[in-house]
Amino acid sequence: MFRTNCAQCHTVSGKGGALTDGMFAPSLKDVDPKHIYEAMLTGPQNMPSFPDSTMPQDTKADIIAYLQEVDSASKQQRGRLHAGQHRAGVRGPVRLGVRLGTMIAIATWVAARTTKAKKS
Ligand code: HEC
Repeated sequence: MFRTNCAQCHTVSGKGGALTDGMFAPSLKDVDPKHIYEAMLTGPQNMPSFPDSTMPQDTKADIIAYLQEVDSASKQQRGRLHAGQHRAGVRGPVRLGVRLGTMIAIATWVAARTTKAKKS
């Protein structure tokens, strides 16, 4: 429900994003459930309103629950990323360098062999 009704402005993860005409849909992280509910009812600025007639209260509750879920999941992930950052940051480029070096070595070896084979 969030994806079809809200994500085009607030992005799938609720981070918010730029809209046309210099408008900006704010991040929905750490927003009070009551506040989210009110925003859906009233539709501030160029956000459409979602009155109970077009979006039942149950659906609103689902969306709020989804947002809280995304919120806490991203917080957990941030903590994990922070812990693993150091190792991944160093190892990534090194591994890529080794792999590239191996590929170049093989390519050179193959090229040398084929030129030699042609000569003889
Ligand atoms: C057409 C784009 C658009 C759509 C679709 C949209 N919003 Fe918004 N939303 C906005 C804009 C723009 C604002 C900022 C309004 C303002 O600055 O007063 C906003 C503000 C909000 C706020 C207030 C955030 C805060 O920190 O004050 C909440 C909560 C919110 N939207 C939730 C939702 C939810 C939930 C949905 C889906 C049911 C939704 N929005 C759909 C554009 C949109």
